[in-house]
Amino acid sequence: MTDLETELAETIAPEIRDDLMGRGYSRRHLGRIAALLGGGVALAGTASTAFAQQSAKAVVGAVRIGSNECWTGPLPAGVAAGQKLVTEGNRYEPDDEHEKLFAAVAQVEGVPVERVTAWPGSSDPLNRVAVTFASPTRGIVTADPTYEQIWRTGAWLGVKVTKAPLTADYRHDVKAMLAADPNAGLYYVCSPNNPTGTLTPIEDIVWLAENKPKDAILVVDEAYIHFSGTQNAAKLAATRDDVMVMRTFSKLFGMAGMRLGLTIASKQIHDKMMRYDGMQVTNMLPMTAVACGTASLPLADQIAARRGQMIAAREKTIAHIKSRGLNVLPGSHANMFMVEWKGKTPKEMQAAFLTHNVQIGRSWTAYPQMSRVTVGSAEDMQKFCLALDKILMA
Ligand SMILES: Cc1ncc(COP(=O)(O)O)c(C=O)c1O
Repeated sequence: MTDLETELAETIAPEIRDDLMGRGYSRRHLGRIAALLGGGVALAGTASTAFAQQSAKAVVGAVRIGSNECWTGPLPAGVAAGQKLVTEGNRYEPDDEHEKLFAAVAQVEGVPVERVTAWPGSSDPLNRVAVTFASPTRGIVTADPTYEQIWRTGAWLGVKVTKAPLTADYRHDVKAMLAADPNAGLYYVCSPNNPTGTLTPIEDIVWLAENKPKDAILVVDEAYIHFSGTQNAAKLAATRDDVMVMRTFSKLFGMAGMRLGLTIASKQIHDKMMRYDGMQVTNMLPMTAVACGTASLPLADQIAARRGQMIAAREKTIAHIKSRGLNVLPGSHANMFMVEWKGKTPKEMQAAFLTHNVQIGRSWTAYPQMSRVTVGSAEDMQKFCLALDKILMA
């Protein structure tokens, strides 16, 4: 058995491994199965729990402001491009759809086209980068609170996960992150951060890139960057071979159910992540999503307009909440904010909102008195404010 086969066999969740071996598969076959099915088998345990935690089951018909989705679907030109590809669904790839997407990303972000790869969302590469760069001897470092998927992946892989609290103004404390584990294999920065919506300045991200161990990777998860419209880390991933920027079309672009994400990184990083299953994940994307993403990405004015709608709804809602004597965490640059309840737990408030047909988000262990609320449409947020008033008066 080669080292890689052994390594792959060990990535399979124990219950799945038992089942496979019980059916007569050898350890060598386990490695091959993991290679064949990639993230699907290797990370079955963690991926499903991560998702279940991340987004509670949607209440159909409710005002859905719990899962950081966009309140509306893709931009009209994206819808048209996707629809056209539906009519050409008989072809695996009607035209050079992948190349057109990569070219659009390279153009919009100013990065070399060979550094761009697409995925069915960003959850797969997030798991995959952990498998590739972290191990029981090289940990993962994140902020706390942050998007927790990588914590679960790390825990499931037996990797030490170290969490450094955000600064007093809710940035990633990059110096504390490095000090917390100076020999980690992966440093994860989420900017804007989920659940606080707060940004970490690009200078801090550059500092971490320059001071982390040379062979560690810095992952900058920019799932919400289009909602902030500020400086991003794409150029850093274009010029350094140890930084990866991760994007998703699930947020501002309104494509969560269509599944499209991007990574910007060196070829060496991408190759290393792909050695498990030879690019099959990225080569088999739904063409409807690829075409929709390609058409949407360059629409700077429409992106800015959508961002503007979100900001207006967010600021009006926050003002309303504050006028009722409640505290909202400052500095969100994304379609979410954290609100601190008085006298009731986040679970109780979530249940109370549901009785008014409004589904809000959950709390994070670092901030047990707060709930994350997603910014929906102006109308959604009006319903949220009305429900809040009724709950406070009850
Ligand atoms: C910070 C962050 N990264 C990544 C993801 C994964 O999103 P997707 O797999 O839909 O691209 C999410 C989803 O909520 C997120 O909040």
